[in-house]
Amino acid sequence: MHTRLSVNINKCATLRNARGGNIPDVIKAAKDCERFGAEGITVHPRPDERHIKYADVLELKDVVNTEFNIEGYPTKEFLELVQKVKPAQCTLVPDDENVITSNQGWDTLKQNKFLTEVINELHESGIRVSLFVDPIEQFIEGAKAVNADRIELYTGPYAHIFSTDKFKAIEPYVQSAKYAQSIGLLVNAGHDLSLDNLSYFKKNLPFIAEVSIGHALICDALYYGLENTIQMYLRQLK
Ligand code: PXP
Repeated sequence: MHTRLSVNINKCATLRNARGGNIPDVIKAAKDCERFGAEGITVHPRPDERHIKYADVLELKDVVNTEFNIEGYPTKEFLELVQKVKPAQCTLVPDDENVITSNQGWDTLKQNKFLTEVINELHESGIRVSLFVDPIEQFIEGAKAVNADRIELYTGPYAHIFSTDKFKAIEPYVQSAKYAQSIGLLVNAGHDLSLDNLSYFKKNLPFIAEVSIGHALICDALYYGLENTIQMYLRQLK
């Protein structure tokens, strides 16, 4: 199965915000990622707008020609933004307000009512919904119960353990992705995926629908250039 590469461009916005002004130009970065082969663009607006800003997301609406994926915690403001933009996919993430980056998946059992309401609302607008979850069967079953279309497996722990024990690192992901498939959920993955650990992930989970990658890819672009880097990531997914 073909695995789609969605490039998370938040880090371009973080760099821009460090100085004010418009360098690097986030809109141009999105267009260039597509031109260089990215099959999707991901943004993760946070309430304090320290990375991508709400205004960027609105501007990207008319620019992104591949799959647009907006991810984040479903606050009222976030959902209003998503409804204005109507991306192909919205990935819901249970971020606490002050976390540096997403660091866990949903407890889909505890949040059943909330997630059901939010997902219904997004479905009414024709937006596909993916839920960020840890590779834990009961939470995947819970994602199905709230009517999610997909899950995005949180791969932070995979990346962390990969360097010392790749067999141990991948095991829960293989089991839980197979389980997700068996109950009719497509499986995305993201967080801390890199040129070191991506091809092993893909080899063991060939049916992954999409990976969303930001930090490592943008850092690699400093050394290899954006075009080369995107091509290198695409090759890992072959
Ligand atoms: N998926 C989710 C839900 C995220 O929050 C992030 C980081 O913004 C990513 C994927 C991408 O992670 P990374 O920047 O480590 O590639």
